[in-house]
Amino acid sequence: MDGTTPISELHPLSPLTADEILQAVGIVRNAIEDGAGAKIEMVELAEPDKAVVRQHSPGDPIKREAWINIYHTDRPGVLRCRVSLSEDALVSQKHYPDASPMIAPVEFMEIENAVKADPRFIAACKRRGIDDLSLVTVDPWSAGNFGIEEEQGRRISHVFCWVRNEENDHQYAHPIDGLNATADINTGEILDVRDEGDIPIPGGEWNYDRRYQKVVREDLRPIDVVQPEGVSFTLEGHRLKWHDWELQIGFNAREGLTLHDISIGGRPILYRASIAEMMVPYGSPDGRHPRKNVFDVGEYGIGRLVNSLELGCDCLGAIQYLDASLNGRDGEVETIKNAICLHEEDMGIMWKHYDFRLDTTEVRRARRMVISTIATVGNYEYGYYWYLHMDGMIEFEIKATGVINTTACMPGQPGPYGVEVVPGVLGQIHQHTFCARLDMAVDGDANTAVECNTEAEPMGPENPYGNAYRMIETPLTNELAAARKADQGTHRYWKFKSANKTGLTGQPTAYKLIPTSVVTPYISPEGPSGRRAGYTFKDLWVTAFDPDQRFPAGEFVNGCDGSDGINAYVAGDRDLVGKDLVAWHTFGLHHIPRPEDFPVQPCITCGFKLMPVGFFDDSNVRDLPWDKNIASCHAS
Ligand code: CO
Repeated sequence: MDGTTPISELHPLSPLTADEILQAVGIVRNAIEDGAGAKIEMVELAEPDKAVVRQHSPGDPIKREAWINIYHTDRPGVLRCRVSLSEDALVSQKHYPDASPMIAPVEFMEIENAVKADPRFIAACKRRGIDDLSLVTVDPWSAGNFGIEEEQGRRISHVFCWVRNEENDHQYAHPIDGLNATADINTGEILDVRDEGDIPIPGGEWNYDRRYQKVVREDLRPIDVVQPEGVSFTLEGHRLKWHDWELQIGFNAREGLTLHDISIGGRPILYRASIAEMMVPYGSPDGRHPRKNVFDVGEYGIGRLVNSLELGCDCLGAIQYLDASLNGRDGEVETIKNAICLHEEDMGIMWKHYDFRLDTTEVRRARRMVISTIATVGNYEYGYYWYLHMDGMIEFEIKATGVINTTACMPGQPGPYGVEVVPGVLGQIHQHTFCARLDMAVDGDANTAVECNTEAEPMGPENPYGNAYRMIETPLTNELAAARKADQGTHRYWKFKSANKTGLTGQPTAYKLIPTSVVTPYISPEGPSGRRAGYTFKDLWVTAFDPDQRFPAGEFVNGCDGSDGINAYVAGDRDLVGKDLVAWHTFGLHHIPRPEDFPVQPCITCGFKLMPVGFFDDSNVRDLPWDKNIASCHAS
């Protein structure tokens, strides 16, 4: 993705190069009437058909195509264009009159500046004793769709405000409660400024920045991760090989990191995996807080917000990085250096057994391959970590860190919807509800989903001692039946079975999805935010593969009405038996802030696991070497 990769070295699923993004923009600027003045919402790879990808061999000529969404700031709607990069031509275009483009990072700053220049806002700050506007920070949020007349057909942002005690001070320690504004993103017009209530701005100093840190621990000696013979993975372009694993790494502005064509031992498991949405609903009905409900993937594009990672800080050990090139709003290219981190991690023991009769011990060490990125969405950081394990398990973990979104309360009076984290600073109850889109391909595309529940049998003649319990499988035969909640009470999980391949015992080869981070939704499905978040009301959805059904909250999320997305995808109730299946798993964090989350939040985690079940004929990790690690030593 450095802009110099020859086309012949690309894989059909390689992310667009910088040159390809510029070319796509150029095609549209020339071919579309009024294209020269258009803003560019997103340029992304138009992923070829699965058959094309599978037939590809390294070095084969490939046909590259891109999607490019453009818009104009003087009218609503998005024009979605498909362009051929190989033929330097526009292929198709379709106008979506009701779609509202994602909010670009540059627009955050524009909104902040527009709000701070508004005389009503300046007066409101003055009323609160703030004269130096350079210390005021204004965080723009996507505004949802609350049916407000004057907002219809416009790109709207609403804002929350904080103030620093001095230039480098932590803004989120000093929330200006009750000061909000609504802005038209396209025109910069401030629709309203609200200055409500008289909760004092908390003034306590709570900083995490090193320049405020008076004491630094001196009791920690280095832990070095060294791989004296180099790493055990190889990377060609974006194709990663490690252990028996092979996959293609992708990246786009909306989803950020994507994984494709994942196989182990040459056997496919997943055709595509991504975190296709994240929704963060806040639980306070007070003031302007009910509008705090963001879709960080669909409304901003989390790929654009990805950090440039730093060796020895974000990433420890022998690290391979990948850069990511993305379009800017005005058609320029922004390349994020070190956007994706690849490395191996020791994972303790893989297995061990001591045969006490023979007095023999066998133990093998595990390691995992880590593919990660970290995105900053305003106050929050989201670390995405995909883990490949040697026993065939695929694991995904979110590490949520950064700073909780704060508001102010009268000291000692937090009210029911938040926790006073330090005096006068309130962390509101909220959730982070993700959706993983998992295009399953367990030993091929033809898969069947089943739900597995463990049940006790009643005592009786067949169960005289009351000890009988067993796992019962229920096929999820159609889309409406496959919209499921998790149930810890029956140790519920879902299995994706090959329709064609069986293992040693005659059972279909399979992978199971284990929901380890279920979140109960608390917003009403009837409310303006709940209507747009249909996916969050089930923990599993399964759909028949359709390349156009990509996002659980819909293709265009910013300001949407909720009519597109997972509920629309399953409305046809398609047959799922032995089909090319996509699993959508809802998971996340239920976050009641703790005082320990402030002024900076140590990582909290959530995720899920995909584990082989009869995919292999046995434990499959007997072949690991038993050499002792010679760098290990006694601590004394
Ligand atoms: Co949180």
